[in-house]
Amino acid sequence: RIKLDEGYQKTYKNVDELLPTLPRSKGWWLDQLLQYQGFWLSTYGIRGSMLIDDHFNPRPTDIIIATSPKCGTTWLRALVFSIINRNSFDFSDHPLRKANPRDLVHFLEAHIRGDGSTASIDGLPSPRLLSTHLPYALFPECMTDDTLACRFVYICRDLKDVLASKWHFANKLRPKGVPPLSLEEAFDLFCKGVSHYGPFWDHVLGYWKASLESPKKVLCLKYEDVKKEPLGCVRKVANFLGVPFTPEEENKEIVEEIVKLCSFENMSNQDVNKSDTRSQEKPISNSDFFRKGEVGDWVNHLSPQMSEILDQITEQKFQGTGFSFH
Ligand code: A3P
Repeated sequence: RIKLDEGYQKTYKNVDELLPTLPRSKGWWLDQLLQYQGFWLSTYGIRGSMLIDDHFNPRPTDIIIATSPKCGTTWLRALVFSIINRNSFDFSDHPLRKANPRDLVHFLEAHIRGDGSTASIDGLPSPRLLSTHLPYALFPECMTDDTLACRFVYICRDLKDVLASKWHFANKLRPKGVPPLSLEEAFDLFCKGVSHYGPFWDHVLGYWKASLESPKKVLCLKYEDVKKEPLGCVRKVANFLGVPFTPEEENKEIVEEIVKLCSFENMSNQDVNKSDTRSQEKPISNSDFFRKGEVGDWVNHLSPQMSEILDQITEQKFQGTGFSFH
């Protein structure tokens, strides 16, 4: 880390003082999760959130891609990236054919990874496309205030598919020699709300409510809807971001091009996303973000009893909110 100014040093000191005081739980790989303002985050997520609070300067043109992990982050990053940059690239020679969306969209709470400051993000040209897993409630008012234009595009997904996906992902990340995480353990943690950026239900409700209160600021998509009607969803995102497709673009079938480019079939078959490059220094490889990309795969994993318990919790959590996954 380069020498950071006094403001940063103060934030880091506050983080260091806070972390040992927070409730802890076993994580999904070798990490621990800490309860911070009602949500279960890694130390890295908490540090990111506190840095954003103290140092991030939002711009009205910022586009924030928000997701709970395993809800379609990779897909949404690809879609929004190709929508807003559609005039800059040829679809046959598109950056998404050579890079994983993680390398094209900055991960907001990870900006601390570089020099430990917001400098790399401050230096980006507008409109900045940023990605986050943080719950809506953890963002400072200067970002969630309805009068500011900084926009959030959120995607959620049926929690049973999220649990199945996350369980597979966790086992890929667990180092060799560490016993696999059983589905029962994963289920217990998930039901207790102990998953990254969880409780899952609260994450969804935070963005869902914000989308009702501030529809120009927050757009909520569902993974299943994007699967069913990708063209309509891409148009919706473009309209929301104030860059609707022109009749000329419609004639040229640009929306179709975007959907094809970002499809699971296409992305998972790109060389850059196929190879397993996991190592001790880089425990995640691009291929870990592509598994099946299907709706309803949970039936191959969760027992009917697990499904019933999840239904009960979900009913309780979403009662009276108007939200449902279907
Ligand atoms: P499955 O494990 O159910 O297959 P995230 O990107 O938030 O980590 O989510 C990963 C999940 O999204 C995985 O789900 C992955 O296969 C799926 N996914 C990745 N790219 C996708 C795409 N282009 N279209 C649809 N689903 C995709």
